Amino acid sequence: AQLGVVLVAAGRGERLGAGVPKAFVELGGRTLVEHCVETIVSLHGGGHLVIVVPEEAAAATLELASRLVPAGSAWEVAVTPGGRERHESVRFGVAALHETVDLVLVHDAARPLTPAALFERVGAEVRRTGASVIPALPVVDTLKRVSADRVVHETVDRAPLVAVQTPQGFPREQLAAAHDRLGSAPAGSEPTDDAEVVQRAGGSVRTVEGETLAHKLTTPGDLALLEALLQALLA
Ligand code: C5P
Repeated sequence: AQLGVVLVAAGRGERLGAGVPKAFVELGGRTLVEHCVETIVSLHGGGHLVIVVPEEAAAATLELASRLVPAGSAWEVAVTPGGRERHESVRFGVAALHETVDLVLVHDAARPLTPAALFERVGAEVRRTGASVIPALPVVDTLKRVSADRVVHETVDRAPLVAVQTPQGFPREQLAAAHDRLGSAPAGSEPTDDAEVVQRAGGSVRTVEGETLAHKLTTPGDLALLEALLQALLA
């Protein structure tokens, strides 16, 4: 199978309040996009990487990313502008992949320390099963349903629940058809991941074990946590 990776980095990251789009926040002296690109272009066998960014960041991102591709690598990098919602950014990214790509991994730039092993695990399971595959971790905290005024109503059984991450892997046809079918989702019902897009189109999705290191940067507290994880990785 010919591998393609769509790296979505076109979000505004308002919950972080960093003043720059989240994917361009620095962690240990490098942007989140750079961390992700470095991992992706280390994957064996090569492929086509499309980075989806805010339009004004396109030229700079292409230059930055191209420098990270090792000489003689079988990876090719392209950049394309994103959409207003995440699912639109993914749709544009998939459309920009070479026609020969038939297995797609979609990854959030907001998960900068995701190890190469997770990309390999998800990709291998898509190849093995021909199905859509997402990384998932058991939920460890006790879960409660609360009302807007912070009053607890009930405890929710966590046994059947998992927290899901990226990269999420798909046969290209399944992902592209599901996104085409979704079009522009009505406000308030936007899917928050691609597995949801595939499921709305009637497809089934399997899980593989996720990784703690695939933690997503959302709040300032996450930045401190990721910095500590990075230091531990470098030690
Ligand atoms: O905002 P959130 O953390 O859910 O975004 C997840 C990922 O999707 C981020 O990497 C972000 O850059 C990307 N995204 C995008 N285009 C959007 C919204 C989010 O590429 N319109």
